Amino acid sequence: MRHLMSPLDFSVEELDKLLDLANDIEKYPEKYAHACAGKKLATCFYEPSTRTRLSFEAAMLNLGGSVLGFHSGDSSSASKGESVSDTIRVISCYADICAMRHPKEGAALVASSKSSIPVINAGDGGHQHPTQTLTDLLTIRSLKGRLDNITIGLCGDLKFGRTVHSLINALIRYENVKFVLISPEELRIPDYIREDVLKANNIEYVEMEHLEDAMPELDVLYMTRVQRERFFNEEDYIRLKDFYILTKSKMELAKDDMLVLHPLPRVNEISVEVDDDPRAAYFKQAQYGVYVRMALILTLLGIEV
Ligand code: CP
Repeated sequence: MRHLMSPLDFSVEELDKLLDLANDIEKYPEKYAHACAGKKLATCFYEPSTRTRLSFEAAMLNLGGSVLGFHSGDSSSASKGESVSDTIRVISCYADICAMRHPKEGAALVASSKSSIPVINAGDGGHQHPTQTLTDLLTIRSLKGRLDNITIGLCGDLKFGRTVHSLINALIRYENVKFVLISPEELRIPDYIREDVLKANNIEYVEMEHLEDAMPELDVLYMTRVQRERFFNEEDYIRLKDFYILTKSKMELAKDDMLVLHPLPRVNEISVEVDDDPRAAYFKQAQYGVYVRMALILTLLGIEV
């Protein structure tokens, strides 16, 4: 039995296979319509979500399976003090696979150690968000045709943005990927990513504060929201929340084929006027999230079509 805690749980070859499967699902959805008949997915979300939870549920329904779950700690027996370990033991009696989001880093890992069904980390605190990374990789590979030889700008809250941490971990495994890390001083990437991931693997990266300076060289711009829920101090959040706003005029500085991605939800960091730009791919990205989660469910359940 396999779980998914980090994008590194899959080798590059396994990831390629997963992304190929997702592309096949996109092309021939009817082939997969009954692949999970009789199977149940539990979505155990202790933190709010729109895309991750609903795309997991859509994925299982598209595969002909069923879904059950809870959408907040308050609506589950966690509010009475039940531990994640006990909860997953019980969920294992009800479902065949579980996607779990939790505000505490490592919660999904704890669950996986007590589970008798595959557990998927659907976001653990500021740590990792591997299925968003699978979504991002599928989007980049499908729309740019490659995952190597790219310069990617990661912009915004690089300190608390778990999608950024997971994506860096995943992309360093491809040839000639350069990172431009664009953030205010207070929201720079954590030391463990800079030292243990980028420097330790001799990855080319630069840190800067001004988005405009980075724009002309980027193949992909990955915007992120300032993570209000992870700030200790509301004043700091208010000071930093509008530090970056991608506008039409800033888009004029970019390459004609640069992709704009965002894991969403967006707050102010991309002006709605950018949505009509053909380079804006963040809503397509959300659609790719369904295909890749379908591929992941099939892979972890060991179902071949
Ligand atoms: N991208 C993402 O994780 O969105 P949700 O928080 O809505 O799931």
